[in-house]
Amino acid sequence: MKVSVIGAGNVGATVADVLAQGDFLKEVILLDIKENFAEGKALDMWQTAPVRMSDTILKGVTNDYSATADSDIVVITSGLPRKPGMSRDDLIGTNAKIVKSVTENVVKYSPNAIIIVVSNPLDVMSYTAYLTAKIDKSKVFGMAGILDTARYRAFIATELNVSPKDIQALLMGGHGDTMVPLPRYTTVAGIPLTQLMSKEKIDAIVTRTKNGGGEIVKLLGTSAWYAPGAAAAQMVEAIAKNQNRIFPVCAYLDGEYGLNNVFLGVPVVLGKNGIERIIEIELNEVERADLDASNKAVKEVMSVLDNMNLF
Ligand code: LAC
Repeated sequence: MKVSVIGAGNVGATVADVLAQGDFLKEVILLDIKENFAEGKALDMWQTAPVRMSDTILKGVTNDYSATADSDIVVITSGLPRKPGMSRDDLIGTNAKIVKSVTENVVKYSPNAIIIVVSNPLDVMSYTAYLTAKIDKSKVFGMAGILDTARYRAFIATELNVSPKDIQALLMGGHGDTMVPLPRYTTVAGIPLTQLMSKEKIDAIVTRTKNGGGEIVKLLGTSAWYAPGAAAAQMVEAIAKNQNRIFPVCAYLDGEYGLNNVFLGVPVVLGKNGIERIIEIELNEVERADLDASNKAVKEVMSVLDNMNLF
C-alpha cells in the first residue's frame, strides 16, 4: 500500500514517522512546498529503518504531486498551525485555499484514494476537501476524535493512576471548544467511569479536554504534533489493515443524528473502504443539546467558507 502525506511540518512528519515505524506499508511519500524540506525529513526517517527494523520506503518531494500518483490513502496536513491566542477557526482564510488546492492535486493523481484531513479548522477543512474532491462521502473525512479522546483518556489515566490502555471513550461533535466528550460512554476496563470518579472531577477533565489543543499551544507557542500525528496514523492503519475499528471520526452527515450537510465527529467503523458505516448511539437530553450546539458552531464556520466563494 502506498500512502502520501501532504505537508512535512510537525504533524505531517510525525504521521510519516509513525507509519514508517509501523512497518505495514510498502511506501510513504512526504510532500511539502518548501524546497528540499520533505526530502530531508524523509531521508532522516529512512535512516532509522535499519535501527527500527522497518522496510517501508520513505520518499520526500518538493511539491511534485506526480510522486503521489496512485496512493491508496492521502493524509492532508497542509496549512498554518495556531499561534497563542488564536482559535482554530481563525485559520480558515488561509487554510481553506491551501486545502482546496492540495486536494485538487491529490485527486488529479490519485482519484481512488481515501483522503484523511488533519488541517484546521478541522471540520470545515474536511468539508472543503469533500467539496473539492467530489468523491464519495465514505472516502473523505477528518481526524479529530481520536486525538480528542486520546487527550481525554490520558487525563483520566493520570487521575486514576491506571494504564491509558484500559480507558475506552467516545466523544462527538466538532474539533473545537464545543466538542462533546461523553462520560456516559467512557469505561475503565469495562467499569463505567461514573463509578470511579466524582462528577466534579469528570467535569474538570471534560473541560480540560475541550481546551486540550489550546493548552499545548500555550506551552509551545504552536500547536501539538505527537498526538495528532499518532492519531492520524492510527486511522491509516485501520484502513490499510481493514481492521473495522470503531473511532470517532469527522464524517459527512447525511441525515445521521438528524443532521445534514455538515462534517461532525461521530462514531464510525473504519475499514478498507474508509467509513464502512456510521454508528448512531442514544443520546440523553443534555448530550443531544451539546451536539446540537456543536453542529451550530461548525455551521457558523462553514458560512465563513461559503462567503469566501471558493466553490
Ligand atoms: C490540536 C490541533 C492539532 O488539537 O487541532 O492540537
